[in-house]
Amino acid sequence: MVVTSSVGEVQPVVSPDYDREHEFRAFFDSKAGVKGIIDSGATKIPRIFVHDFDKPEDKPCPGNSNLSIPVIDIGGINQDADTRSDTVDKIRAASEEWGLFQVVNHGIPSTVMNKMVDAVRQFHEQDVEIKKLYCTSDPKAMFRYNKGTFDRSQMKKSVAWGDCISCEFDHLPADFPELPGEFRNPMSEYMNCVNTLGMTLFELLSEALGLRKSYLKDIGCAEGLYFVGHYYPPCPEPELTQAAIAHSDLAFLNMLLQDQIGGLQVLYQNEWVDVTPLPGAMVVNFGDMMQLITNDKFKSSKHRVLAKKVGPRISVATFMRPARSEAVTSRMYEPIEELLSDENPAIYKRTTIKDCMAQLYSNLSAGDGSSALLHFRI
Ligand code: OGA
Ligand code: NI
Repeated sequence: MVVTSSVGEVQPVVSPDYDREHEFRAFFDSKAGVKGIIDSGATKIPRIFVHDFDKPEDKPCPGNSNLSIPVIDIGGINQDADTRSDTVDKIRAASEEWGLFQVVNHGIPSTVMNKMVDAVRQFHEQDVEIKKLYCTSDPKAMFRYNKGTFDRSQMKKSVAWGDCISCEFDHLPADFPELPGEFRNPMSEYMNCVNTLGMTLFELLSEALGLRKSYLKDIGCAEGLYFVGHYYPPCPEPELTQAAIAHSDLAFLNMLLQDQIGGLQVLYQNEWVDVTPLPGAMVVNFGDMMQLITNDKFKSSKHRVLAKKVGPRISVATFMRPARSEAVTSRMYEPIEELLSDENPAIYKRTTIKDCMAQLYSNLSAGDGSSALLHFRI
């Protein structure tokens, strides 16, 4: 999910002359994003970006270096039955324990990945007047620049140190006519590859749950795609803010492409662990909907992104989720019956994606990092 605007309340450690609303307005009205602040030569971050780390565990800190995220080679899944079942076992273990892992030999060519990262960089680094054209609150727009950040309803919250572009569609289109010209080709190539990887992962995950290969696809987990191209500018005071506040995603699955800067962390047994960039790898993590339908077997991982003095950092998230049409968002989801037993009864109520999404956004705006899932527990 887009998290650039989902942050905690700023404490009133402000001088009387600090006009919070004015600062918000200036930032929104500039439509130049966080990058605009850096481009103006700022050596301090504006107050609206200063986060209140009242819980010690929320403070930016290096990850526990004794722990590392599982890295799974999925290159051999079509070789022979043994290699496939070995891979499925590794995916099951990582999904149950971490809810986040990296995959290598996943079939997306590095040229396609690099072109995607470059296209996101170029979008953010182009003339601000052109970027502004994509700054829209039209809910039907396919492509948007800083969707959440420039939403005025966010005015009461502190802001995360990052810009983003987002693009959402149902079923993979053959072409992307609404996208900026130079973005179409890299996007189309990357989306085709990432969609194929998503389908492969859903098959492996279905098998890891002991279900038929097509199960998760059949229940519509992968109809809709939501793309977010993050751009986190270098930050002069990284200890005061965050690039993305701790959150869990909503969608079933996220496939994240990150560059080599680092900063992404995942919470594992109450400790932050770095998701260290691995050239060519894709980060895979689950959202709350996956945890709900698997009745807590697969974890929706809590993660965050630290602000850094170096940058920009670029990452590209692709979320797989049901399509957006009313009929589909009203479809009911509940813990998968085949996974339930007397010893393992359902712990979540039936819900629609719509309700789940509404709950998630309300939790994100509260900015306390609490899980939307608690709301659906029986
Ligand atoms: C997200 C997210 C992490 C990153 O988009 O939900 O967590 O590294 N992104 O940008
Ligand atoms: Ni996320």
